[in-house]
Amino acid sequence: MNRSGSALAPFLKHLGRHKLAIFLAVVCSFAVTAFNLTVPLLFRRLTEDVLVDPAPTQLRLARLGGVIGLLSCALLLRRVCQSLASYLATSVTQRLAVDVRRDVYRHLHRLRLEFFDDQRTGILVSNVTNDVTALQFLLHDGLVQLFTAPITVLGAIVLVFGIDPLLGLVTLAVFPVLYLVISRTRDRLRRINEENQTTLSHLTSLFLEAVWNIRIVRAFRRQDHEIGRFETINDASLRLRLQNARLNVLIEFFTEATILLGFAAVLWMMGLRVATGRIGIGDLIALVAYLQTIRSSLTSLSLAYTRYQQASGAGRRLLDLLHEQPLPPPPAATGFQPPVWRGELRLVDLRFAYPDGTVVFDGANAELRPGEKVALLGESGVGKSTLASLVLGLYQPQDGRIELDGVDVGTIPPEVLLEVVSIVPQDVGLFSGTVRDNIAYARLDASDEEIIAAAEAANAHGFITRLSEGYGTYVGDQGVKLSGGQKQRLAIARAILRNPRLLILDEATSHIDPETEALVQEALLRLMADRTTLIIAHQSSALRGIDRTLVLRQGRLYEEMPPAMVLPGG
Ligand SMILES: Nc1ncnc2c1ncn2[C@@H]1O[C@H](COP(=O)(O)OP(=O)(O)OP(=O)(O)O)[C@@H](O)[C@H]1O
Ligand SMILES: [Mg+2]
Repeated sequence: MNRSGSALAPFLKHLGRHKLAIFLAVVCSFAVTAFNLTVPLLFRRLTEDVLVDPAPTQLRLARLGGVIGLLSCALLLRRVCQSLASYLATSVTQRLAVDVRRDVYRHLHRLRLEFFDDQRTGILVSNVTNDVTALQFLLHDGLVQLFTAPITVLGAIVLVFGIDPLLGLVTLAVFPVLYLVISRTRDRLRRINEENQTTLSHLTSLFLEAVWNIRIVRAFRRQDHEIGRFETINDASLRLRLQNARLNVLIEFFTEATILLGFAAVLWMMGLRVATGRIGIGDLIALVAYLQTIRSSLTSLSLAYTRYQQASGAGRRLLDLLHEQPLPPPPAATGFQPPVWRGELRLVDLRFAYPDGTVVFDGANAELRPGEKVALLGESGVGKSTLASLVLGLYQPQDGRIELDGVDVGTIPPEVLLEVVSIVPQDVGLFSGTVRDNIAYARLDASDEEIIAAAEAANAHGFITRLSEGYGTYVGDQGVKLSGGQKQRLAIARAILRNPRLLILDEATSHIDPETEALVQEALLRLMADRTTLIIAHQSSALRGIDRTLVLRQGRLYEEMPPAMVLPGG
């Protein structure tokens, strides 16, 4: 684990772009500090030159005007500087939050798919929301305070020393006790904050899962079960928050009590010293004001410290995420010499296992000649969809190769691979947006004519035009407003829009009734014409226009043979 200090440093690099704003905010904050330290001196003048001084009334009234004028100016300017510093801090920290969120989000898109296989979405969501917000809070409420409060305290102490060194010494005695309070509670506070954030991310996870699966929850009447699970974590979160609050109240109490006791002693001594004529009543007033300044600066410092604790936990989690090893940079398109793409696919001694150890390919060999239509059969869970992922370059085989027209898929730049291979996936995957947006996902620059042509070829145009707003109809989150078969036809339209040399159909008609299936098969036959097609299915009976059939079994591919024949290895 990083130390908390270094957990924040990497995020501060973003501040570099806002140097001017930060400089102005710091200048304004120091100006506020200076005004805070000046105001008591003005009060002292008010007391000594106007109230106590035995000068003629006329003169004292003139002085009164002067001092009040200065005081008003100082207070007004202080307000202006405070407002300016506050606005600048807000604008800088909001930008920083946006920058950090962007970093995290971009990083997520560079990570291996394996990373997502093991992640709970809620934790990632919590990272980009709660954790970034904690960072932002620290920088807004805390960072300026962490710098200006100590300076204010220091300045006030120096001024107290200037008025009366002995009182200055007594004031200083408060600080070792404060240090003790803070150092004894620091670790506990940090631990509670960490646990609190973890609980919060679990809560987010649970929430997202239930909303995504709301139809399943209703179908199995599991509302109470879900509410129960949520409440357990919600209650745990409450307990942690209360623990946190109690600890904070205790810290605040001890801090304040220490300060008050210390200051009571100082006040008592001050009274004695005024009584014995060592210091004037004006000094007394200035000293009281300084004690007040010290007290409020220490209070805001302790708030800043709490924020700091929360932010350093958040910073650590974000750093862990940002330190997650990204994929190596993909092969660059410049300099890549593409062959003439004909759509030949070869698997050579392919070996692949998921990180959890599930072996899916164990020396598989196969060849699809250009333009061939090959069915891929195999039991559920045997690895058919995994093969599609490997051909698309989404996972990397541990050994062996996948070649497209003689070129290793791993060496083909992604944007080139996208031109050559396309998939109609088993899980369609629609985005919130319109029907048009969802088809155009395959090619963002597609024209309306091309999109309609693709939909017609996928036998989807008919149902789309019957939707309330045709191509402009919103499909809902993950396409919930469409039927399974409709979604599949949108996915087929997507694939058609790419016009690939190699097409992979992963159970592309599994959600479709026989009648529609005939229509979709027709669309698929059009789509399959003169391109290599790998058709993943459970039964060969559902397939038309197939040249050959491969069977995947125990990590290897076999040509389908009559059942009586024994399959040789390899
Ligand atoms: N992301 C993953 N992480 C770990 N294991 C996985 C992952 N995806 C799939 N598997 C495992 O790999 C094996 C092959 O899964 P795959 O989805 O390729 O099967 P399939 O042949 O397409 O099955 P189906 O016919 O049911 O679609 C299964 O045992 C599955 O549990
Ligand atoms: Mg599958």
